[in-house]
Amino acid sequence: MNRAAARWVAHFIQEAVDTRGSCVFMPSAGRTPMGLYEILRAEYLDAVDWASVTLVQMDEYVGLGANDPYSLASCIETHLARPLGIEEFVTFNDDRGRLRQNLTEYEAQISALGGLDVTLFGIGENGHLGFNEPGSGLLSPTRVLPLDDRTIHSNFSESPEEGFSVPENGITVGLPVLLSSRRSLLIASGARKEEAVLNLLGGPVSPEWPATFLRGQLGAYVMITDDCVPAGAERETGARGRT
Ligand code: GLP
Repeated sequence: MNRAAARWVAHFIQEAVDTRGSCVFMPSAGRTPMGLYEILRAEYLDAVDWASVTLVQMDEYVGLGANDPYSLASCIETHLARPLGIEEFVTFNDDRGRLRQNLTEYEAQISALGGLDVTLFGIGENGHLGFNEPGSGLLSPTRVLPLDDRTIHSNFSESPEEGFSVPENGITVGLPVLLSSRRSLLIASGARKEEAVLNLLGGPVSPEWPATFLRGQLGAYVMITDDCVPAGAERETGARGRT
């Protein structure tokens, strides 16, 4: 999956650069894309004009500073921005490293860049998209919200060092902006994503599983590994061509 996903991401980033002169790329900061990012660094460093790419942050934990190693901004900085030489990175932090207060302005900044060209999503075990947790309606704006217990458990189960206070709130780009991306790819791997993937592929489109809103979006693709879908579910969900 990682190799196919890396090829997909690199291709559509470069396509945006070729057609528009630049690319606005919103990458997931989950654990799933780490192998994909490694392939981008190793095999696509020269194949893509990374200097013409602007990264935009999808989600973040409230309460972790921009430089905190557990912040999602520092994850993107470490795995993508710095090694690929991408200088433009729009984050939820202001110049002083504090969380921005004006989130309408954040959305306006994305519009001013020309909107999202390419978005790479992960999916929460609970079906979240970004940090749009279950219950997020189609019109949910960019906002701060309490993190679902399942998200906290999944993201901090391998507990950081003693004294670390696990964030209870997150900040996320809202669904209308996420769903407006010209190209989207959602990647999922592992049995813990099984319920979310089954809903994504075959359940009703519903705020209970926000990633289901991706269904029917033009330009949206899903890549999953075999262990996400139990044997026999393929026919019911329509999952085909698994990687
Ligand atoms: C975090 C991110 C989400 C991502 C999810 C996927 O919660 N904030 O944007 O969808 O991780 O998790 P992982 O790839 O670590 O399984």
